[in-house]
Amino acid sequence: MSVVGARPNFMKIAPFIEAIDRYNTSASLGEKVEHILVHTGQHYDDNMSRTFFEELGIPQADINLEVGSGTHAEQIAHTMLSFEPVMLDYDPDWVVVVGDVNATSACSQVAKKYNARIAHIESGLRSYDMTMPEEVNRLITDRLSDLLLAPDRMSCDNLKREGASEKSIELVGNIMIDTLEKQIEKADELDLLSIVSENLYEGQDTLESLNEGQYCLVTIHRPCNIDDSSIMDDLVSWFGTEVSDDMTVVWPVHPRAKKMLQQFNLWDEMINNPRIALTSPLGYHELLRLNRDVRMMITDSGGLQEECCVLGTPTIVLRENTERPITLRENGGICMLAGNDIEVVKQKYQEALEMDRRPYRPELWDGKTAERCVEAILSMDDCTAD
Ligand code: UD1
Repeated sequence: MSVVGARPNFMKIAPFIEAIDRYNTSASLGEKVEHILVHTGQHYDDNMSRTFFEELGIPQADINLEVGSGTHAEQIAHTMLSFEPVMLDYDPDWVVVVGDVNATSACSQVAKKYNARIAHIESGLRSYDMTMPEEVNRLITDRLSDLLLAPDRMSCDNLKREGASEKSIELVGNIMIDTLEKQIEKADELDLLSIVSENLYEGQDTLESLNEGQYCLVTIHRPCNIDDSSIMDDLVSWFGTEVSDDMTVVWPVHPRAKKMLQQFNLWDEMINNPRIALTSPLGYHELLRLNRDVRMMITDSGGLQEECCVLGTPTIVLRENTERPITLRENGGICMLAGNDIEVVKQKYQEALEMDRRPYRPELWDGKTAERCVEAILSMDDCTAD
C-alpha cells in the first residue's frame, strides 16, 4: 500500500507505481506485487491534485480519505482516524510513504501500530530546523520506517548519525528526477506564453510576450514567509519595482499564499502591475517548461530546489536552511540560501543575474530510482523470508 496526500507527493509516487507495474509484467504469478494506492485528500483542488494524477498517468487512488484542510493537529488526527480502518481492512505487508507532508507521518504512525513494515522514499533529509512542520514529519517517519530509501549520501549520513542500522538504509537516488526525465519531452512541447496567458488570475492584463531567459519564476508557500505581512510587503514591492524592471515576474500562487496576500491587502497591488504575471498553481508540465528557460527561480519549495539543480537554473532559496544541502552551490548544485531578509535577497539576486545555467546531477539521480526502491523492498522481503 502506498500513501500520498499533497502535491509534492504525486511526482514521487508516479514512477514507483510504474516500477511495480514493470516488475509485475515479468514476475511469475506467485511473485506479483498487489498494490493499493491511498490518497489522504490533504490537497484536493483540481489544480493541486487531479491535474497531477492525469499528467503523470497515476491511476486513480483506490481509496481517498478526503481529510482536506485544517490545522496540523486536525489534519493529522483526521488522517489517522480515517486511515486506521483502511489498515484493518487491507492489512498490507508494506506501507510505502513518500516525502515529508502530514499524510506521510500520520499514516506511518497508524501503519506501525498495526505492524506493517514501512518504506520511506526520500528518507534522511534534515533541515535541523524544528520550527518546520515537515522536519517533525521527517523525524517521526524515519524513526518508524523499516526501510530508509535515501536520495543522497548526505541523507544516509544523517540517518547513521541518528542510529539507524546500516542494513535499513539504502541509497537509491532521487525519485523526483525519474518523473522529470520521463516528462521533459512533453513539457518541451508547450508554448511559454500560452502557459502563462491561459492561467492568469482574473483582473490581469494579457501578456504580449514571454521570451526565453527574460522572466523569473517565483513560488512561495511556507508559513514562515507568507504568514508575515512585513516579509510579504518587502518582497512584493521589490518584485513590483527592481525585479520587474529587469524581467517579467511569473508567480504561480499557492492557494494559501493567495489567501494571505489578500489579507495583507497586497493582492490588488500585484494584479495591477503589468510586469507581474500572477497565475493559478500550474500543472507539472507547465512549470517544468517554464523552468527550462527561466532566467532565475526565487522559491521556498524543496522539490523545486532539486529540479533546478538538475536543470541548472540559478535559484534563490527564500529560507535560512535546507534539508536538501546537496543542491547548494557549495556542494556542486546551483541553489543559494537567502532567508527572507530583503537586503540579503537583493544581494543574492545580483549574484544570480551574473550566473549561467549549470546543470548538476548528484549520484544516482539518473531516472532509475523507482526501480531501485522496488528492488530494495522485495529484497528485504526475501531476507526476512530466509
Ligand atoms: C503542504 C505540505 C508542504 C508542501 C506543500 C506543497 C505539510 C505539513 N505541508 O503544505 O510540505 O511543501 O503542501 O504544496 O504537509 N488549500 C487549498 N486547496 C488545496 C490544498 C490546500 O485551497 O488543494 C489551502 C487550504 O486553505 C489550506 C492551505 O491551502 O489550509 C494549506 O494547505 P496544507 O495542506 O495545510 O499545507 P500546505 O501549505 O499546502
